[in-house]
Amino acid sequence: VTFEIIAAPAAWRARLDGCRATGQRVGLVPTMGALHAGHLSLIRRAAVDCDVVAVSDYVNPLQFGPAEDLTAYPRNIDEDARLAAEVGAHLLFAPTTKDLWPVPPLTTVQVGGLTENLEGRSRPGHFDGVATIVTKLFSLSGPCSAYFGEKDFQQLAVVRRLVHDLSLPVQVIGAPTVRDSDGLALSSRNAYLVGDERAAAPQLYYALLTGKRAIEDDAERDPDLVAKAMASSLAREPRFKLDYAAVVDPDDLTCPDVIRGEVRLLIAARLGRARLIDNLSATAGESTQGGP
Ligand code: PAF
Repeated sequence: VTFEIIAAPAAWRARLDGCRATGQRVGLVPTMGALHAGHLSLIRRAAVDCDVVAVSDYVNPLQFGPAEDLTAYPRNIDEDARLAAEVGAHLLFAPTTKDLWPVPPLTTVQVGGLTENLEGRSRPGHFDGVATIVTKLFSLSGPCSAYFGEKDFQQLAVVRRLVHDLSLPVQVIGAPTVRDSDGLALSSRNAYLVGDERAAAPQLYYALLTGKRAIEDDAERDPDLVAKAMASSLAREPRFKLDYAAVVDPDDLTCPDVIRGEVRLLIAARLGRARLIDNLSATAGESTQGGP
């Protein structure tokens, strides 16, 4: 397969149906473009697992709130195409909103429960927009493996649940967050950091490490105290405005009463014009307190 950019939904569906008809396994990497090394790691992974790597590149208005950065969101399809091809993509789906929705949709896909807290609370309607576009992309792309980064940890949980609940013919694969050498998780929104904000940004990751150490080294088992330790760590960089710091069950994203086994630490905060999120796994070992 040589590299091809497709804008028309019907052509995209026909192209991927054609690939499957000849026995090729399809890997789908849904993106909003502005590709960085995190996206490229998903494309590389898809290229290892699958015969055809299909990347979607669409800034989905449905997942942006009215006061959010839809118009500012970085866009560069030509550069995206070059980068995607370089690391093993074969097809790029780059529709316009008119291509995808010639008339505005009346249908919304809503995943309950999982979307009520964290990003869902701070960004009302965001996950409805994500679930709707992801369902549409899965419908147009057909049976495939689909690759999502763990940086958007709640999104990954929502997509897994959506696929499960609606029996979509998609195998969802989550891949680890890619970080810069100072620990900052790669994100297209890092482009909004100006001046010395970039140097301050890794404090978000250090706050997660503080929470992880509290659980793994200091045997802290109270989720509220771990979240407080994360918040105080972030406060060392006063330009950060904390949105939330939380300790949750990695599967259903509920807050446990007591930390046991593996949990996920999640954090979201504003720095200048950027709203940044990050997360990390932590595992509470067996307590030896009170044992023989
Ligand atoms: O993670 C993203 O880039 C977007 O939320 C996604 C999954 C491509 C849907 O627009």
